[in-house]
Amino acid sequence: MLRQPESTEPPRFDTEGTDQQMDRFEYRSNALWCEEVPLAAIAAGFGTPTYVYSTDTLIDHYQRFVKAFDAIRPLICFSAKVLSNVHLLRLLGRQGAGIDAVSGGEMYRAILAGVAPERIVLAGVGKSPEELREAVRLGIRCVNVESEAEMDLLSRIAAEEGRQPRVAIRVNPDVAPDHRTPTQTTTGTRGGKFGVDLECAAELFRRTAGDRSLRVEGFHIHLGSPIFDPATYAVALDRLLELVKEVETSHRAVATIDIGGGFPAEYTDRSAPGWDDYAGAIVPRLEPFTRRGGQVIIEPGRTIAANAGVLLTTIRYLKRSGDRNLAVLDAGMTHLMRAALYDSYHFMWPVTPAGQIMPASRDQPWTDGLIEYDVVGPICESTDYLARGRAMPPLGAGDQIAIFTTGAYGMTMTSNYNSQLRPAEVLVEGDQVRLIRCRETYEDLVAFELLDSDIP
Ligand code: LLP
Repeated sequence: MLRQPESTEPPRFDTEGTDQQMDRFEYRSNALWCEEVPLAAIAAGFGTPTYVYSTDTLIDHYQRFVKAFDAIRPLICFSAKVLSNVHLLRLLGRQGAGIDAVSGGEMYRAILAGVAPERIVLAGVGKSPEELREAVRLGIRCVNVESEAEMDLLSRIAAEEGRQPRVAIRVNPDVAPDHRTPTQTTTGTRGGKFGVDLECAAELFRRTAGDRSLRVEGFHIHLGSPIFDPATYAVALDRLLELVKEVETSHRAVATIDIGGGFPAEYTDRSAPGWDDYAGAIVPRLEPFTRRGGQVIIEPGRTIAANAGVLLTTIRYLKRSGDRNLAVLDAGMTHLMRAALYDSYHFMWPVTPAGQIMPASRDQPWTDGLIEYDVVGPICESTDYLARGRAMPPLGAGDQIAIFTTGAYGMTMTSNYNSQLRPAEVLVEGDQVRLIRCRETYEDLVAFELLDSDIP
């Protein structure tokens, strides 16, 4: 028996949830819409798999994040590794966002997007000499240096260039987030590859603060992604502020504290605290610092972008394997890597559900009329599952499935494995749809392998 909606008005997601959950993807009249555009129309116009982004959601999340931290007037540098399409970086840049880059490529994207160098920070444990030189030439806001050796190299490059880059030392505060953060994405614990050990940071600051080629002026931390407990920031900041005090007692002023990213997105229903909860742990600790002229930098990514995007896919085949129902999509781990890599949960539901069965919640609980499916992709790897045992309305070949909360670390982690073509990206604004990245072609796949003379 299929569950029928009780009224003519189909149930919708509860948009009274946490900040990160509210978005402009919703079911109306038995069809999924992004703002004022039905997803089915996007599939018809652009094909699948396609990443679809909502302008309104992206801007709204950015603006509400800014508001939560308003009391300390931080420079918000959106983390480009999360979502790096130049059109979307431009959109955020126009809202006042800076960019957290982790490579020369991301700095290039930021500049192309019109973001001013003074609003770009560069992180990364293995920056190349060329990337450091580029940062120095551009005059970016801050190079977040991760080792003594990198500091020495940066100093030499800066001297050659006759410039004085602004520098923060990335510190490993040795703070472990709770068990909900995957170990693969925990970055601030002892023995890890990121930053310098807390007990070495003061000495490195003192030694290099007098370097006339550098302006060493602060510290940087990033604890992991996502961090579900605001108290984790509190512990790390208390340690960092001790370090700042220690450095300042030897008369070296600290001008910048960059607290990294790590704020969660809502992948299900209300599993993550809201932005005010994080601000509640962070703002009072940093207010004294900003009151005396210090600048705080924050590098959010997922929390702003994740629910601003869905991956629109099509079911190619339905099949049985033993006692399992399999739905084989045109998208797999090469188009959305997170489930295969971290066993991540992404809510998914048909764009036009059979029997008008609407999801009761993004936790996808079992309800009458649903069927359990393993949702897999076309890739020749046994780990190419997007979901296992997922309850959904009866599916048919050719149906479109939307995979939600994929605006963060979706497109940026795609690959060409199995010579798959990367998806298209489209941006919706009201009733307007704009292609912001073309679907790749076979020619694109071999473009770097063939010289002109090799082309038949
Ligand atoms: N700042 C730094 C220095 C980072 O390393 C990261 C993420 C961020 C900011 C942004 O973190 P967010 O606000 O998005 O949590 N691919 C994984 C996540 C890897 C995170 C890497 N660093 C995933 O799909 O979950």
